Amino acid sequence: MRTAIFPGSFDPVTNGHLDVIRRAAPLFDALVVAVLVNADKRGSFPVQQREEMLRRVTADLPNVRVENFSGLLVAFAGRCGAQVILRGLRGVEDFGYEGQMAQLNRGMSPGVQTLFMLTAPEYAHISSSRVREIAVLGGDIAPLVPVALRAEISATLRPQGR
Ligand code: PNS
Repeated sequence: MRTAIFPGSFDPVTNGHLDVIRRAAPLFDALVVAVLVNADKRGSFPVQQREEMLRRVTADLPNVRVENFSGLLVAFAGRCGAQVILRGLRGVEDFGYEGQMAQLNRGMSPGVQTLFMLTAPEYAHISSSRVREIAVLGGDIAPLVPVALRAEISATLRPQGR
């Protein structure tokens, strides 16, 4: 059983995340999308809402499941029986942070391999933080997030269209 975990904050999930999930899912028997519960940082969307949004947009992918985790990622990977941590790279600018994290995770858990997947170029400029910023300011997030989630994301970040 080849299991990968795709961890992140997903605050909220973007088209870039979904692109990686859709392309990675066929490569593994199971892909666990793991939403970080960060006690120090509440985030804009409650973790449960982030999970529900991810479940909605991955409902057609039978080997994908969505869970949340707190504590060390490598410990969660161990609990899942995952051999792989999957991370998306938008470009070289992500590599420093991601490379450092991969090396530290490798030091703690040498049996778990971090694999990187390049985001498709049309999504390389998207980040959850930019989505939040644009939505809060009333901009159009349509090209940035899954169609099914547009209204919910806008409404959560800009109640009553304020
Ligand atoms: O979407 P993000 O915010 O870039 O994801 C970061 C994430 C969740 C992968 C990272 O913060 C993480 O793994 N946190 C869990 C705590 C941990 O294991 N820290 C040590 C990493 S070297």
